Amino acid sequence: MFTPADLLMIPGPTPLPEGVRQAMGLPAIGHRSPEFKAIMKRVLPALQWAFQTQHEVLLYTASGTGAMEAALVNTLNPGDKVLGLTCGVFSARWSEVARSLGLTVVEAAVPAGQPNLPEQLKARLDQETGEPFKAVMLIHSETSTGVLNPVEDLVNIIQDYGALSIVDTVTSLASSPCPVDAWGIDVAVSGSQKGFMIPPGLSFLSYSEKAWQAHQQVRHPGFYFNFAKTRKAQADFTTPYTPATHLIMALDVALAQMQAEGLDAVHARHVQNRNAVRAGVSALGLELLVPDDRYASLAATSVKPPAGISVADIRAGLKKAFGIVVADGQKDLKGQIFRIGHLGYVHPRDVFTTMAALEQVLGHLGHTVKGHAVEAAQQVYQTVPVACAL
Ligand SMILES: Cc1ncc(COP(=O)(O)O)c(C=O)c1O
Repeated sequence: MFTPADLLMIPGPTPLPEGVRQAMGLPAIGHRSPEFKAIMKRVLPALQWAFQTQHEVLLYTASGTGAMEAALVNTLNPGDKVLGLTCGVFSARWSEVARSLGLTVVEAAVPAGQPNLPEQLKARLDQETGEPFKAVMLIHSETSTGVLNPVEDLVNIIQDYGALSIVDTVTSLASSPCPVDAWGIDVAVSGSQKGFMIPPGLSFLSYSEKAWQAHQQVRHPGFYFNFAKTRKAQADFTTPYTPATHLIMALDVALAQMQAEGLDAVHARHVQNRNAVRAGVSALGLELLVPDDRYASLAATSVKPPAGISVADIRAGLKKAFGIVVADGQKDLKGQIFRIGHLGYVHPRDVFTTMAALEQVLGHLGHTVKGHAVEAAQQVYQTVPVACAL
């Protein structure tokens, strides 16, 4: 049953700040009104700030997958050869979208819990004969496993090779450092219900000059997601079609809150929360799906249940006794892991609560708890001053 007090510790949708909830309850405004234009005048530059780009960020009324489709349909022609770096469910989606658009897709996959490594990409590109890849599609934070890919190094290799880099930053933007221009990412896509702390329904896409040039060679760039139509409308601080006005009003509030906190502080908070969750579950004797801290996502941590205890029981215990929601694994990992989300409007208070509850639930389920999760989390927060912007 829906409990309004549930604490969402899932990797999106994430909890909503009070100001965002209030914005969602404001009276309606027209999307061609001066009031809406004033909001767009604040939101569009603030998105550039979040993406750390001087280039334009396009805003779509669609979930993250919509922006993924926009990225491919606007920069590539049917038949173009592309490489998809896969490390889980969401990175695999790039290849699914690409195939649906008639692209010729080659996939390079690694086992669940492992990152796509630069040396593997270099070797894969070097061995390719025949027509070169026009684009490489990859992911920054793979939400299905909790892997954080070394995107800067991967993009460097793609640039040297001469292809477009098209990156899913859905659960990394606004949680992990991801300076789009400094890293030379050609197209980055993100979504509203993650680090941006608002409900689902908007997605954002940044494009480089090289991506824009590619767009101009595209024969069928589509209608709804069309870069040129969206760019033309945004030049006048509006949208080509009716947008989700209330989500954009909420985004205005969320971006102002992020700017008040500061991008570095937002990232530092996510690092602390990620480290505290990893320390907490490790203290309980649980195994992490991503053992190497260097490749651990700042958005979500995947944890294997102890022998003899099911993911379903852990999730049900957390939900029933404490109103805390954590996610199951997806596809092959369903029932094999549970995923603790710690992105967006998540603060040490939420991590402490979750760690204490998890320890208690595991104890009730018969797990011999080896250490104390809260104590381990406290040690993490003691090492760095806590930037609390509740
Ligand atoms: C990394 C990643 N990419 C893409 C998506 C798909 O976004 P949406 O469900 O908003 O379409 C998600 C959603 O969870 C995600 O986590």
